[in-house]
Amino acid sequence: MSVTPKGLRLTVVGTGYLGLTHAVCMADLGHEVLAMDVDEEKIAKAMRGEVPFFEPGLEPLLHKHLDSGRLRFTSSYDQVGLFGDLHFLCVGTPQGAGGAADLKYLHAAVEGLTPHLTGRCLVVGKSTVPVGTARQVAERVRAVPGLEQVELAWNPEFLREGRAVQDSLSPDRLVFGVCSPWAEVMLRQAYARPLAAGVPGLAMDLETAELVKVAANAFLATKISFINAMAEVCEAVGADVLQLAEALGHDERIGRRFLAPGLGFGGGCLPKDIRAFGAVARQLEIGSVADLLGCVDAINMGRRARVVELTREAAGGSLAGRRVAVLGLAFKPDSDDVRESPSLDVCDRLTREGAVVTAHDPVAIPNAARISPVLRYADSVPATVAGADVVLHLTEWADYRAIDPAALATVVGQQTIVDARCTLDTQLWQAANWTVVRPGRR
Ligand code: UDX
Repeated sequence: MSVTPKGLRLTVVGTGYLGLTHAVCMADLGHEVLAMDVDEEKIAKAMRGEVPFFEPGLEPLLHKHLDSGRLRFTSSYDQVGLFGDLHFLCVGTPQGAGGAADLKYLHAAVEGLTPHLTGRCLVVGKSTVPVGTARQVAERVRAVPGLEQVELAWNPEFLREGRAVQDSLSPDRLVFGVCSPWAEVMLRQAYARPLAAGVPGLAMDLETAELVKVAANAFLATKISFINAMAEVCEAVGADVLQLAEALGHDERIGRRFLAPGLGFGGGCLPKDIRAFGAVARQLEIGSVADLLGCVDAINMGRRARVVELTREAAGGSLAGRRVAVLGLAFKPDSDDVRESPSLDVCDRLTREGAVVTAHDPVAIPNAARISPVLRYADSVPATVAGADVVLHLTEWADYRAIDPAALATVVGQQTIVDARCTLDTQLWQAANWTVVRPGRR
């Protein structure tokens, strides 16, 4: 094991969202890091200090460690094999056929890396995978002559977009799926700093480690869909879901976090991970889990339809030719990610019903425009809402909470706002003569 006084020498394969963040943060934790991607353009950008997505705090840290020399980039597997004895796999596992995870990038990374491995080393998977994948990969690698000393471990990541640096440097917990005490020692060295700061490090078998990640995301998605299901009940009986969530959240066993009702979850992780987990459950013939996750997904998608319905009602019964202003396109605030964005889905549904949609987002417009070029985009809130028949609040950026509703009233067509994220100050808007509609309240 080559341990320099500065830390370990380790590599990161895949420099997308997870890999680039991991590489930068491992350099910040004191290690010598070589990050690799087959996409030469990505590598060239990273070497210039450019982060190709919006993630607060990541770019300055990338610059810092390019300057310190602790972080380097390459597109060569050969260099990766020579550089370190600990190799993190951080490639994407997108949604494939029937909702199952598509493992082609993971298999390609293993194929690419293994011919360059020598001696005793640890390959550490970080990508989110169906349970059982790690052991299959381990067996495939170990079957290659000369690679008998290569071990596999699984160390899932739990980072949230918008807080990725913080989540990587001081996570809630570290999970080490290992097959030997040596692998655990290696991982404990890699994360020596957060472990010393008190972050729990939990060692377990490969299957349990893989499951921790998908079970965590399934639980979070279920919690969100639970409160959104309660929103439906509130609408039916004239109750208020925000007051309900507040009161439920005071029970310490329940907790207030991830109990925010509204438009539901999107993004690159929760939707795809619950579908992939559902596919695994079906394969394992565990119908109860498949049904539960299917229901969580259906409740979530149902909220998008409900917001369109509320908009249609607010527009007087038909959306044809009505001007709708949309605030927020990213799947959540502090991100420019529009993958599975509930907002973009709502925009598409509105457009299909004949609405003329103009949308705003502080950072996600370029990404949204690539996916939905037919939408109109405006670069300020007043320009977005000018003349609108209905305003929709679809991503809860802090900027939107800071809007002065009285000032906006002077440019809008009709003073009606659908607060699909339930985070605006209703009283403030009503005081400025706005009609505020929100899901979960009749
Ligand atoms: C998630 C997990 O939180 C993270 O641990 C995992 O590693 C990756 O997936 P992320 O996709 O970045 O992270 O977003 P998250 O903050 O979890 O939000 C997911 C979605 O749920 C967003 O669309 C958000 O708007 C929505 N959400 C969240 C709600 O609708 N209500 C809530 O109470 C919380």
